[in-house]
Formats: sequence, structure tokens, C-alpha cells
Amino acid sequence: MEITSISNAFSLKGKNAVVTGGNKGIGAGIVTAYAQTGANIAIMARDEVTGQKAVNDLKEKYDGKYVFIKTDIGEFASCKASVEKAIEELGNIDILVNNAGVKTVGNLLDMGEDLAEWHKCINIDLNGAVRMSYLVAKHMRSNGRGGRIINISSNAGEICSKTANMITYCSAKAALNLFTKGLAIELSKDNIRVNAIAPGFIDSSEDIPDHLKKHLADMIPIGRLGHVLEIGALAVYLGCDISDDMTGAILTMDGGHSIVI
Ligand SMILES: NC(=O)c1ccc[n+]([C@@H]2O[C@H](COP(=O)([O-])OP(=O)(O)OC[C@H]3O[C@@H](n4cnc5c(N)ncnc54)[C@H](OP(=O)(O)O)[C@@H]3O)[C@@H](O)[C@H]2O)c1
Repeated sequence: MEITSISNAFSLKGKNAVVTGGNKGIGAGIVTAYAQTGANIAIMARDEVTGQKAVNDLKEKYDGKYVFIKTDIGEFASCKASVEKAIEELGNIDILVNNAGVKTVGNLLDMGEDLAEWHKCINIDLNGAVRMSYLVAKHMRSNGRGGRIINISSNAGEICSKTANMITYCSAKAALNLFTKGLAIELSKDNIRVNAIAPGFIDSSEDIPDHLKKHLADMIPIGRLGHVLEIGALAVYLGCDISDDMTGAILTMDGGHSIVI
């Protein structure tokens, strides 16, 4: 497509988006940015209380169509039923944001022989995005409308912090980055763009105590944590036609943290 003007270039009016983990944290920031730029949204997560509340809040403020669909991205059958439900509710899916994730802290050799923490994190942070991408990309390819897949990775996919002990999480996000590039190639002729955002420390929860925020901010060159709406704004860009020339990109947004770590 040829862009001749950037007036309304950052509008998602008429687009239908699925945001996993859109009920809280960074996902809620992406959902807010998507609602404010006109998208209809299906939020997928496990917790019905926060999921339904998020949808009710959106309905009060904005004019789009918003639904919560209870989903466990750790289970293929749950993902499949939820994608079918989203298509039924919204008509089709134009944008998939694979945001849901879990953080696993701990050394490999401290795990039991079942490597439970390893398998849990890989099953959600990597395989959850794979399951959802498989299902939604098949839908996008078969309806011929193209689409956008946006994976929420982490700067931990590019660097291994000596102090954070996040070997499993780092491995999952590193694999998600290469999955993003591989899928971008596989879907390049289907007008489906696949990109990732790699945030650093984000002020994503009221539960982060002030002293910890300060400690984290001190490690970041710009001296502050990122905001969820900043991630949302980048996800809007990646969801819009104006980013059509971008695929297989991993966009780091971390206040410069990964430059100095
Ligand atoms: N916060 C940061 O500083 C930061 C930095 C870099 C990258 N990230 C990445 O950004 C994403 C969001 O992080 P966050 O900090 O906002 O996380 P969060 O506040 O802990 O929220 C995690 C989200 O994922 C959902 N989720 C977890 N397991 C799920 C499952 N099995 N099925 C469906 N949904 C599931 C949760 O909803 P339910 O519990 O209701 O299922 C929740 O909405 C993650 O991929 C994370 O790795 C975060």
C-alpha cells in the first residue's frame, strides 16, 4: 500500500483486535490505546472478574464493541474455542496482540527434576503465543484480509541480567523473538505482518512498591520506568496500515536499559 498522508494514519477505526492478557498491566494499556484509536476488542485471559470489569469500563468510555473471552493460552483447546468465539462476536480478527505472559525467576539448577518452572514459563510465554498465532494466522490467511500479529517480548530476550536469575523467561522471550522473525517470513505473502515489542521495566502494576520502582529506575539511563500507554502507542502503530513496510522487527522500548546492562 502507498501512504500519501499521515492524517488519520494512527486510526484503528473498524479494526477488530484480540489482546491476550488485556485485563491488566501492559495489556490494559494496549487495550486503552486500541479503544481510543477506534478498534473493537476481544480481551482474552483467565480471570473473569478483572476481564469483565475491563470490558465494562471500556463500554462506559468508548463506542466500540468489547468482549471478554475466558481463555487459558496454556491449552490449545481453550485458545481454539476462544478464537472461534472472537470471530463470532467481532466478525473477523485483524490484529492479534500476544501480550499474556508469566515471569519466572530462578536458576535452572535450583529447579526439581521435573523442571516445572521451566516448562510452565515456556508453555505460556512462548507456546501460548505460538498457539494463538497458529489459530489466528490461519483465519487471517483464509479470509484473505491480511492482518497484524504483535508479540510482547522483553529486552530480557536480548540480554541476560546477572542479578535477575531469569534464565527461563529470557529463553522464552529470545525464542519468541526468532519465532516473530520466522513467522514474518512465512506470512509475508499473505499481507500479514508480524512484529514484536521488547519493553524494559514498565510501571505496570500498583503493587510495585516505590522503593523498588526507584531501584529499577536508577538502572535505566533515562531514569524512569516505562508507561503502559507508551507500549500501547507502539502497538497502535504496529496495528495500523502505516507500519505495512515493517515485519520481523523487534522494537526495544526500555529507556536505554539494554544498552548499558
Ligand atoms: N511489566 C514489565 O515490566 C514487562 C517488561 C517486559 C515485558 N513484559 C511482558 O509484557 C507482558 C505483560 O506483562 P505484565 O507485566 O503486564 O504482566 P501481568 O500484569 O502479570 O499480567 C499478565 C497477564 O497475562 C495474563 N495471563 C497469564 N497467564 C495466562 C494464561 N495462561 N492464559 C491467559 N492469560 C494469561 C494475565 O491474566 P489472567 O491472570 O487473568 O489470566 C494478565 O492479564 C508479558 O508478556 C511480559 O512478559 C512486561
